[in-house]
Amino acid sequence: MHTQVAIIGAGPAGLTLARMLHLQGISSIVLESRDREYIETRTRAGVLEEPTVALVRELGVADRLDREGMSHNGFYLRFDRTTHRLDFHRLVGGHATVYAQQELVKDFVADRLATGGPLLFDATVTAVETTSDRARLTVDHAGTPLEITADFVAGCDGFHGVSRAHIPADRLREYSRTYPVAWLGILARTAPTTPEGMYCAHENGLSVHSMRGPSITRQYLQVPADTDLGDWSDERIWDELTVRSASDDHPELERGEIFDRSLAPLRSYVCETMQHGRLFLLGDSAHIVPPTGAKGLNLAVSDASTLSYALGAFYTAGDRSHLDDYSATCLPRIWKAQQFSWTLTTTLHALSDDPTDWQLRRARLARWAESEAEQSALGEVYLGLPFPTYW
Ligand code: FAD
Ligand code: DHB
Repeated sequence: MHTQVAIIGAGPAGLTLARMLHLQGISSIVLESRDREYIETRTRAGVLEEPTVALVRELGVADRLDREGMSHNGFYLRFDRTTHRLDFHRLVGGHATVYAQQELVKDFVADRLATGGPLLFDATVTAVETTSDRARLTVDHAGTPLEITADFVAGCDGFHGVSRAHIPADRLREYSRTYPVAWLGILARTAPTTPEGMYCAHENGLSVHSMRGPSITRQYLQVPADTDLGDWSDERIWDELTVRSASDDHPELERGEIFDRSLAPLRSYVCETMQHGRLFLLGDSAHIVPPTGAKGLNLAVSDASTLSYALGAFYTAGDRSHLDDYSATCLPRIWKAQQFSWTLTTTLHALSDDPTDWQLRRARLARWAESEAEQSALGEVYLGLPFPTYW
């Protein structure tokens, strides 16, 4: 089987790239190792930047997002028992939209299947080979071996995928930082405590209070990296969320049924070698940000848009320059998101017992709460820096 672009992985990067290529008349095959139900129910991100939403609209896949997504002007910040509102919309314009990643995935999968584009589930890519004139993928499709040849390969297969391993070790330029903490995330049947998401900085650590609708909340607790989920009963989770979010200006957190829980490690990683011959890396396969600031999904989509633009220039005008510049185009935006996520992470989490660290963090939080200049600087990145559109 031959295609112009073989896409490994049906996450946000792979699915948005497939749609953009389809609109440009460029053929692709999407290969996804999991089944449809798994990728459509996996609970992960939820905050979309303004440019991400604008792109999804332009791609014609935003009907449900426009109906069900919640438009947020900024977020709340709570520390020292006091709540502050950061209204980025008023200061820099634009909105963030709260819409669960798996809902976006569902919308793109439905669109792909409706438009007849090949999307194979239970299709695990086991090997990638590239030569100067083509790429070849070895695939295990539900137990049946399959070979696919392509002009180009888009590695959209997440941090643990196979595509990055295709780049020779001596060519890889990688940067990485791990944090001694993880996020314990829950979904619960409760009303949100504030009308927009809230980050709470407390001496016990961070808590995050987000939502998925008027009666479903998504909340996170900073926990040690080696945490066993089994040690966290519902009561212990609610007690800790309540302590960390206690304030003198809002009622205590509402408790309810917890129906989903997971642990996510905190890591910063960038593989600057985002391309090798006919292979390009997108999204989590090339970089991971800590979740504070909600950038991961958005970076996956901006990489896809950059690659789609470059492939469009190649196929329509024979112009290879944008493909050659792919990594150099993506990396500045990736590093700015890394810097933003690192700033939020180190300010909002308790990462040391040193009282001086806490005082320095409090001073930075106070500046964020009191200074519109600080808020504008945060808001520009939170709502989303611009990226090249797909053609
Ligand atoms: P993925 O979504 O990981 O997709 C990769 C796909 O490739 C998977 O479906 C996988 O099954 C498939 N695959 C892997 N290997 C193979 C193979 N060999 N063959 C075929 N298929 C393969 N980001 C935000 O922007 N906002 C947020 O609010 C946010 N919150 C988060 C909260 C949590 C708790 C977590 C864990 C993450 C969060 N993120 C957030 C990050 C975001 O979820 C990821 O950055 C995003 O999923 C990356 O998309 P992707 O398409 O690059 O990779
Ligand atoms: C959510 C995720 C994040 O990573 C974050 O920083 C804030 C909110 C969420 O899932 O809603």
